[in-house]
Amino acid sequence: MITVVLVLVIVFQFGVIGWLIFLQSKQPVKAEAIATNTPEKVAAFYNETTDKFLQVYGEIIQAFRTTNVEDYLNYTIQSAGITNEMKVIDAGCGVCGPSSFIAQQFPEIQIDACTISEVQAKLGQQKLIDKNVAAQVKITLGDYHKLNELFENNVYNRVFFLESFGHSNNKPKAIEAAWNVLKPGGKLYIKDLFIRESANDWEQVRINHICGQINAAYEYQIGDLHEVVSAVRKQGFVINFIRPPQVDLSLFEHLTISNDFQNLFNIGKIESWDDYVFPIDFFEILAEKPSFNTEEQKHLYFMNR
Ligand SMILES: C[S@@+](CC[C@H](N)C(=O)[O-])C[C@H]1O[C@@H](n2cnc3c(N)ncnc32)[C@H](O)[C@@H]1O
Repeated sequence: MITVVLVLVIVFQFGVIGWLIFLQSKQPVKAEAIATNTPEKVAAFYNETTDKFLQVYGEIIQAFRTTNVEDYLNYTIQSAGITNEMKVIDAGCGVCGPSSFIAQQFPEIQIDACTISEVQAKLGQQKLIDKNVAAQVKITLGDYHKLNELFENNVYNRVFFLESFGHSNNKPKAIEAAWNVLKPGGKLYIKDLFIRESANDWEQVRINHICGQINAAYEYQIGDLHEVVSAVRKQGFVINFIRPPQVDLSLFEHLTISNDFQNLFNIGKIESWDDYVFPIDFFEILAEKPSFNTEEQKHLYFMNR
């Protein structure tokens, strides 16, 4: 009798496990790509490649841009709501191309810029002197996951990440650090690439694979939009918008600059266009650190809309 019960229990367990394996195999393929980057590896990458980026991209190291890149910077200023007399942080500042441009538009703005790369910090410092904005922009060598240790807390109007956030290997930590330095009412602005999603499993596998290759070539960790938005909201931010950058198609550069870079330096070069699937989407996210307690004063949330 006991043997029979034991056999039945074992058969039942295998049945359940088999059923679970079957259900698992029916799950759609998730958008996710392998990444092994760390801030240390990102620093080494930019120390070695910044001269190459400068040759192709110029001082604005962003793939999604307009043909005249200043149009894109003006768009960024307007979209992130940056104005004169603000105190802002440029997290992942490259060689201070964007920050020096912004400082030239707004004589009273105060910008703290940070990069993880020593080479960029040196080049950035020189650029600030050359452009005569060193009094407005301070460049710091440091990790943006520790903004709260690098800079004063609760005082900034904006923290922006311009194609730098995707290098993070701990996105909730970077978001928390931004929260800490922002004053109540201050805003986080992220413009970046995110892994594309497809309802077609084969296509998703290809997307994941190609994103893995981009991650490896650029020490990146292309974000999942859902996870990033979730982390932003869990931190307590109120989302103002999530949208593709609102660039007029006639002004758009069409990402040819990143192809030029890849072909010239063999970094992330697409070896074969067979089975190629466009792997990413660009989005910008604007989110506010509320100036009120969202739990106690929910009505203010609606009044602010
Ligand atoms: C693609 S470049 C963009 C540079 C700049 N935002 C621009 O538009 O020219 C990415 C930048 O992010 C910076 N970065 C990446 N990870 C970082 C980290 N953990 N802390 C600080 N900066 C970081 C890199 O040093 C680099 O300057």
